[in-house]
Amino acid sequence: MPFWYDYPMTTRTVFITGAAAGIGRATALGFAKRGYTVGAFDIDDAGLATLSAEIEALGATAVVGHLDVTDAEEFATRLREFVAQAGGRLDVLVNNAGILVGGRFEEIPVEKLHREVDINCKGVVNGLHAGFEHLRATPGSVAINLASASAIYGQAELADYSATKHFVRGITEALDIEWGAYGVRVVAIWPLFVQTAMTTNLKTNSTERMGIKLGPQDVADRILDAAEPNRFSKAIHQVHYTVGNQTRFLQEAARFSPVYLTRVVNRAIAKAH
Ligand SMILES: NC(=O)c1ccc[n+]([C@@H]2O[C@H](COP(=O)([O-])OP(=O)(O)OC[C@H]3O[C@@H](n4cnc5c(N)ncnc54)[C@H](O)[C@@H]3O)[C@@H](O)[C@H]2O)c1
Repeated sequence: MPFWYDYPMTTRTVFITGAAAGIGRATALGFAKRGYTVGAFDIDDAGLATLSAEIEALGATAVVGHLDVTDAEEFATRLREFVAQAGGRLDVLVNNAGILVGGRFEEIPVEKLHREVDINCKGVVNGLHAGFEHLRATPGSVAINLASASAIYGQAELADYSATKHFVRGITEALDIEWGAYGVRVVAIWPLFVQTAMTTNLKTNSTERMGIKLGPQDVADRILDAAEPNRFSKAIHQVHYTVGNQTRFLQEAARFSPVYLTRVVNRAIAKAH
């Protein structure tokens, strides 16, 4: 399994967390197809080994390594190593690693809820904090955070998860303004449910009602759009990238309807009383 020190690098670079499976994996392969040097990091070392081979088969350079995003020191070290080998470049940082704990809030052991907060919130904080100096040093750089349609309005049976994605939304919007001064964009990706391991055993009223219509490639394509925005997205300084028509509809509806109505709709989707 090749590591960062095996390769000299001069091309555009991307560092992706949670890259071994699902959306992260599809994203890694998408960037590889565009010729990026792909840093793919995860706690799933076996998944990374097969991903590395797939990236190399596409003719791109893969740099894979172990990273638990909840460990701030490990995150900073992996980033520093990667960027040093990449000639000082960090063009794109994708904070993708995340977990989902579904079910009735009071029935879920509190340790599981804490773990979800640690990965989905603190993991993103760790990535942004460690990534800043490298992003600032790379003209045109962008940090891309995985939010979710569950950040439009709090989701029953996904309360803790939904709250973590509201956190992602907030930190994205705030830092995009702060870091604009350095030419660093910070954006969020907003998928509804996606067919990955995360949703394989997920049974909530919302998933039953709305179905799971997106695949990881749909999200990866949007992440690539955010990394290389078109003229319109650039002109409006697009921060939020929805994925799929359902999410776009829900987001637009929430924007234009009063909060009490948004609650009624979300309660109906979740069939909650
Ligand atoms: N699947 C969906 O329905 C959906 C919808 C909206 C947003 N998202 C978001 O997209 C992102 C990716 O989700 P996915 O569906 O691809 O999930 P997935 O379960 O298929 O993959 C998640 C990856 O993250 C890794 N990971 C888990 N904990 C980690 C940690 N502490 N450090 C590093 N890596 C870790 C896993 O090993 C796995 O490879 C998540 O942030 C998720 O919240 C997913």
